[in-house]
Amino acid sequence: MKNTWIVSASFFLFTPAACVADTALPVSAKHAMVVTEKRAASQVGIDILKAGGNAIDAAVAVGYALAVVNPCCGNIGGGGFMLVHFANGKNTVINFRGKAPLKANKNMFLDTNGKLKPGSTTSGYLSASIPGTVLGLDTALSKYGSMSRKQVMAPAIKLAQQGYRVSDYDTEWFAIYTPAFRSQRNAAAIFLKKGKPYDSGELLIQTDLANTLKLIAEKGPDAFYKGSIAQQIVKSSQAHGGIMTRQDFAQYSVEELTPIWCQYHGYSVISVPPPSSGGVTLCEMLSLLQNLPLQDNNYQSAKNIHYIVESMRYAFYDRNTQLGDPNFVNNPVKKLLSNQYTSQLSQRILNTTEIKPEDLMVDIHEQTDTTHYSIIDTKGNAVAVTYTINGFFGANVIPDHLGFFLNDDMDDFTVSPGQTNKFNLIQSSKNHIESGKRPLSSMAPTIIMNNKNVFMVLGSPGGPRIITTVLLTLLNVIDNGMNIKQAIDTPRYHYQGIPDVIDVEPLAFSYLTALNLKMMGYRLRSQPTWAAVEAILIDQKDKTIYGANDYRRPDGAALGY
Ligand code: GLY
Repeated sequence: MKNTWIVSASFFLFTPAACVADTALPVSAKHAMVVTEKRAASQVGIDILKAGGNAIDAAVAVGYALAVVNPCCGNIGGGGFMLVHFANGKNTVINFRGKAPLKANKNMFLDTNGKLKPGSTTSGYLSASIPGTVLGLDTALSKYGSMSRKQVMAPAIKLAQQGYRVSDYDTEWFAIYTPAFRSQRNAAAIFLKKGKPYDSGELLIQTDLANTLKLIAEKGPDAFYKGSIAQQIVKSSQAHGGIMTRQDFAQYSVEELTPIWCQYHGYSVISVPPPSSGGVTLCEMLSLLQNLPLQDNNYQSAKNIHYIVESMRYAFYDRNTQLGDPNFVNNPVKKLLSNQYTSQLSQRILNTTEIKPEDLMVDIHEQTDTTHYSIIDTKGNAVAVTYTINGFFGANVIPDHLGFFLNDDMDDFTVSPGQTNKFNLIQSSKNHIESGKRPLSSMAPTIIMNNKNVFMVLGSPGGPRIITTVLLTLLNVIDNGMNIKQAIDTPRYHYQGIPDVIDVEPLAFSYLTALNLKMMGYRLRSQPTWAAVEAILIDQKDKTIYGANDYRRPDGAALGY
C-alpha cells in the first residue's frame, strides 16, 4: 500500500480550533487543584488537601480511589511513575513500574517455531508483571506525605464498601468487557448484576476490593508483598498457567530516580527517565523542535505539522532502538539529548525535501489504558502520576477474591523480535524480557517550570501516544497561546515511524493542510479520539491556578479551591 490516503476529505471540512476548542475554559482556583479522569477521585484529593494533607498525601489517596472508581485503569494490580516537584525546588521520580517475574525469559511468549502465541501477552496471568502500585504509593507516603496510611486510604475503602454510582461512560466499557467478566466467576460476581452489565446510575459495590484495601491500610505493603495477598495472587497464577512466585513479591522494590530535564524556549521540562521512554522521547522531540522555525507558520499549517511529525519520527526511532530498563541495559540519554545530536537531526529535517513512505503498515488494534492525574497543593508542591494496568481491565484476570485486575504490562517488552506489540511498537533487544526487568514504558508525567515557578503539571494515558499527546498539549500552550483547556481539547495527531502513517483525530487538520501533507508524501489515517490529558497550569501574573479535564473523559473533573 503505497501513498494511500486513507482519510476521507470530509473529516477536514472544518478547522478544529474554531469549532472545538475556542470557547473552552479551564476551572480556576487560588490555592490548590486536583485533576483526574473521575470526579469522585478528584473530590477525594481535594478533601485530603482541605484536611491539611499535602500534594503527596492527596496523590496517594487519589491513586487508591481511582483503583475503585476507575476499575478499567486505576489500579493496585499495575505500576507507574510519580513525579514530584517540592516547594523547596527539589524534584524526584518514584519508579513503581512492575517487574518481570523471576522465572520470565525472552522466549516465554513464543511457540516451538519461534512465533508469538496470539493473545498470550495481553491476557491471562503470564501477561502480568509483578505489580508496583502499592509499594510505590506507600513509599511516597512514608517519605514525603504527612498523613497516616489509614487516613489516605479511608476514602477509597469507603467508595469500595459503600459503592459508587456507575456512569454512562462506565457502562459503555462494561458492556464491551461483559464477555471477559462472564468468563471468570469472581469478576462476574463484581462487575455483572445477575449476569448483566450494570446500568448507569446503579451502585457498584466492591466488597472484595474493600477487604483487600483494608488489609493494606492495616498491615501496609507487607500484606501485599509478603502476606496473604501475595499468597493468593501466586496461587491463582500457578493454577492458571502463570509463573509468579512468592519470591517475586518478596523481592519487588521501588526506586527513586533523578528526573529527565530539558529546556524549551526558556521553560524547564521535567519528566520521567528510563525505564520509561516518556521523558527522553519528549525532550528529544522538544530539542529538535526548538531548532526549527515553528513560529514562522500557523500551528495548523502543513509545514509546522511536517516539522513536528519529523521530530516524532527521529525521537521514536531512538526510543525503539536505544532504550530499556537502565538496571539491565545502557541508555545513551546524554547523547540523545545533546545539542550536537539534536541540532544535527533538526538540520536533517530542514533539508528534507521528499517523504518516502515505507511499505510497513499495521492495522491499529490498540486498546490502551492507563490513567493520569495532576495535583498542586497550597504550598506549591506539585505531583504528576501516571500508572497503568496497560489494556482496559489489564490482563482481564482477578486473582481469587482480591477484587482487582492484574496488569498485562509484559506486552510492553520486545516479546518477539521484529513483531509489533499492542501499540504497534517494534522495539529492540534492549527491551527483551529478562528476569526481574521492567518493561520499557511510554508514561510521561511531566512538570513544566517557568523560572523557579511551576507552570504546568500534565500527563496522559495512551501508550506511545502519551508522548505525542503531552508534546502537542505543551506546544499548544507555549507556542500557540491556548489556554490549558483548549490545549487539551484541540484534536491531536500522532506519528511513531511504524506504522508509517500519521494518525489523525477527527477535525485535526483543515482540508488544505491534509492535501498539502499528502503532496509532501505523508499518509494520513483517521482515528477515533485518543488519550486523556488531566492538567494544571499556574499563571503567575494573576496568581491563578487553572485545571482542565480532557473532554475525551466525560467523568473527569478539575476541582480546586
Ligand atoms: N503500558 C503502557 C506504557 O507503559 O507505555
